[in-house]
Amino acid sequence: MFKPDLTRDDVTPESVWLNRRQIIAALGAGSIAGGLPLAANALEELEPHTWEQITTYNNFYEFGTSKSDPAENSQDMVTDPWTVKVDGLVDNPGEYSLADLIGDIPTEERIYRFRCVEAWSMVIPWNGFELNKLLNKVGVQDGAGYVAFETAVLPDVMEGVKFPILDWPYKEGLRLDEAMHPLTIMATGIYDKPIPNQNGAPMRLVVPWKYGFKSIKTIVRISLVAEQPVNTWQHSAANEYGFFANVNPEVDHPRWSQASERVIGAGLFGSRIDTLMFNGYADQVASLYEGMDLRKNF
Ligand code: MTE
Repeated sequence: MFKPDLTRDDVTPESVWLNRRQIIAALGAGSIAGGLPLAANALEELEPHTWEQITTYNNFYEFGTSKSDPAENSQDMVTDPWTVKVDGLVDNPGEYSLADLIGDIPTEERIYRFRCVEAWSMVIPWNGFELNKLLNKVGVQDGAGYVAFETAVLPDVMEGVKFPILDWPYKEGLRLDEAMHPLTIMATGIYDKPIPNQNGAPMRLVVPWKYGFKSIKTIVRISLVAEQPVNTWQHSAANEYGFFANVNPEVDHPRWSQASERVIGAGLFGSRIDTLMFNGYADQVASLYEGMDLRKNF
């Protein structure tokens, strides 16, 4: 049963390395924390969910608020051609075609845990590239401290944007060092197929140590800015959703515990597992938040 590497044959050496470290980190955490068998959790977490699970249980409020809405309602969205505006404190601002923006940046597979703020989780084999490669290409200027992102607003195909469910366009932001971190990717595929509309075609952010709402879909604008931007969920309920949104089992959501999570599809050891600090990526990212009060900066 134990698979020291990942379950797919074609992962890149780098992601094999990253996931080995995650297994080791999770095993270590398990032996200290006791309680639920984290060793089992670690194995289960690295078993990617199925295509069916990943593409039919979604949050994408532009297409409706129930989990099955995005798959059902997003199929008429046309994502080719696609234009992304890059602006703010950059050397090369402009309206880029997606092809020009990505250019020759190669994609690779990253198998990441994905933890929603609603306390459910999956493991997803993304195809994408490090956001830092894109940012280096457009040239980040001195004075830029944050990256802000916006999702498309397409009322012809997005029924949800006709209603004030959220403050459209959906917005997100990262501190520049978070955006430059090698774990932060722009995903353009899943399971070596183009990313489906419901998962954020043609390009969405994935920040694996943060709650899923940070991973903004269907991006049309990337802005380098000096000040910390306000993200959509923070705007809608600042006492419940913060800017940082780092996965943290010790800081509960005001209305529910974040100590554990429901694994979509249920696994060998039951459907609930302990939530890991920084979603299991503490070794790689904890240093970004040294000296910060994670209860205040939640
Ligand atoms: N991006 C946009 N534009 N609109 C959304 O409603 N939902 C977020 C995030 N990105 C959302 C979004 C939330 S709450 C989660 S958990 C993830 O997307 C879900 O990603 P998935 O459907 O690919 O699992």
